[in-house]
Amino acid sequence: MYKTHNNGELRAQNINTEVTLSGWVQKIRDKGFMIWVDLRDRYGITQLIFDEERTPKEMMDKASTLGREFVIQVTGNVIERESKNPNIPTGDVEILVSKLTVLNSSLTPPFTIEDKTDGGDDLRMKYRYLDIRRKPVRNNLVFRHKVTMAVRNFLSEKDFIEVETPYLIKSTPEGARDFVVPSRMNEGQFYALPQSPQTFKQLLMIGGMDKYFQIVKCFRDEDLRADRQPEFTQIDCEMAFVEQEDILNTFEGLTRHLLKKINNVEIGDFPRMTYDEAMRRYGNDKPDIRFGMEFGELNAVAQHKDFNVFNSAELVAGIAVPGGNSYSRKEIDKLIDWVKRPQVGALGMVYVRCNEDGSYKSSVDKFYDQDDLAKWAEATGAKAGDLICVLSGEIHKTRTQLSALRMEMAERLELRKADEFAPLWVIDFPLLEWDEETNRYHAMHHPFTSPKPGQMELLKTNPGAVKANAYDLVLNGNEIGGGSIRIHDKETQSKMFDYLGFTPEEAKAQFGFLMDAFQYGAPPHGGIAFGLDRLVAILGGQETIRDFIAFPKNNAGRDVMIDAPAAIDKEQLKELNLQLTTKLQQ
Ligand code: AMO
Repeated sequence: MYKTHNNGELRAQNINTEVTLSGWVQKIRDKGFMIWVDLRDRYGITQLIFDEERTPKEMMDKASTLGREFVIQVTGNVIERESKNPNIPTGDVEILVSKLTVLNSSLTPPFTIEDKTDGGDDLRMKYRYLDIRRKPVRNNLVFRHKVTMAVRNFLSEKDFIEVETPYLIKSTPEGARDFVVPSRMNEGQFYALPQSPQTFKQLLMIGGMDKYFQIVKCFRDEDLRADRQPEFTQIDCEMAFVEQEDILNTFEGLTRHLLKKINNVEIGDFPRMTYDEAMRRYGNDKPDIRFGMEFGELNAVAQHKDFNVFNSAELVAGIAVPGGNSYSRKEIDKLIDWVKRPQVGALGMVYVRCNEDGSYKSSVDKFYDQDDLAKWAEATGAKAGDLICVLSGEIHKTRTQLSALRMEMAERLELRKADEFAPLWVIDFPLLEWDEETNRYHAMHHPFTSPKPGQMELLKTNPGAVKANAYDLVLNGNEIGGGSIRIHDKETQSKMFDYLGFTPEEAKAQFGFLMDAFQYGAPPHGGIAFGLDRLVAILGGQETIRDFIAFPKNNAGRDVMIDAPAAIDKEQLKELNLQLTTKLQQ
């Protein structure tokens, strides 16, 4: 038997018992006459003691050869510690070792494997298995497991069935590029890895499964960010015979259950906001509503004076930064530089100081008097002591820029509190989105989303105004889930493909199976998919999903531990009937 107890288990009541423990050597303090070892496993740390007076010389010698991360097994007596450590649960006791077995030695690890480490990101990614031995990383994985179990139990109790769908499929458009897999047996043909199981879950509804879920890997070849990985996990769900209201209620229930069970936070009905309202008030379709700084639209009170920058703008909008009047001129200049960075892209920023005595001082005093500025303060909700920051220009760009500024200020003012949770449904998304690159409309969610009743006709006259039965669940400014009520008849689906620029032949080749299936009694259906990695990270009080994935990819989409992606040898290429371009072969 390798162990009678784990390393997080022993307490004062175990004193005077003989135990056997196994684990990794985290730390060694060798005073010559006395050696202490911190023994670590998944459950915690137990202190071992070897001491000249009580330990045979041979074992003292052996203990002095131990190194960090050696795997050892010890047997010994639990004794009371002389100097107790209140910081760890086993801090009252230590083990006076009577038998020591080295199960495996270790090279000196490239970084310290303790709660605080000296290892940089790249090094820790390369030796991810060592990083996983560290408590913060391990705890994140345990936390993920708890969330996943809670999701499975909740949905299973509500009669949802987990069904696996295939990974080697044909393209499912979710707005990213596909990862493709060449087929050896079908020369010149490729599978696509699913961007989501969207079409399969719809086919399961046609198959009568009624309530489906799957905790499933999805693959998207897109630019990476803190909240995006090329392979990530969805809690993918679909229900038949439902309306939008049924879906929102069911998955609000799941989210509320998780917040209670995992975070012990009780939240009542989730607020709802239309997409248009979210854009107007926050410039963003996933607003963080834990704090204010809502947009004030200033066109009516700032245009038609002599300030041409505003007069020629489609939108003039501002936010009131609480306490911002305390900023020095230099700090405000820095903020102006910040909004002018290419990542934000504003051309400049107008500001108004709201003085304690009720007067205003603006960077455009030449054009606006105190009465004008008082109206700006009213529109932005500014109080004495605040700083009003105003941007202007094309409507969508200005909103995006002001939203970036709002989030930055919230970050600086520490208004984004990790232990505060503010969910929000954003509903009534537009059906279509204009794509500058291809110069045409694309489905904003995906092409299977149904337009709101009676809006199909608008497609011809004002496509940008058509609203969809589509919704996102936002938590603390992050999109943690999205879904829609689907089209479930062939005619509407064909029209939609036609509208999105597919020829009938292309639509048939890519999605003929789905449209065929629609002809065999497809029930009304709809669903949602949560990003599990994002959900777990946010419930865990963080936003970087990489920290909650056992073996994540870096920002270049690489796994630096196994060194993937990698070239494959010529033989394999030949077998797959693939040829590389000359540039790559060199
Ligand atoms: P959508 O594309 O909105 O919808 O994806 C659902 C959720 O998945 C998460 N997500 C990601 N998480 C990490 N890395 C990524 N690269 C990534 N991309 C998306 C987000 C998002 O809200 N089939 C539809 C769902 C449906 O209509 O039912 C779909 O995939 O949290």
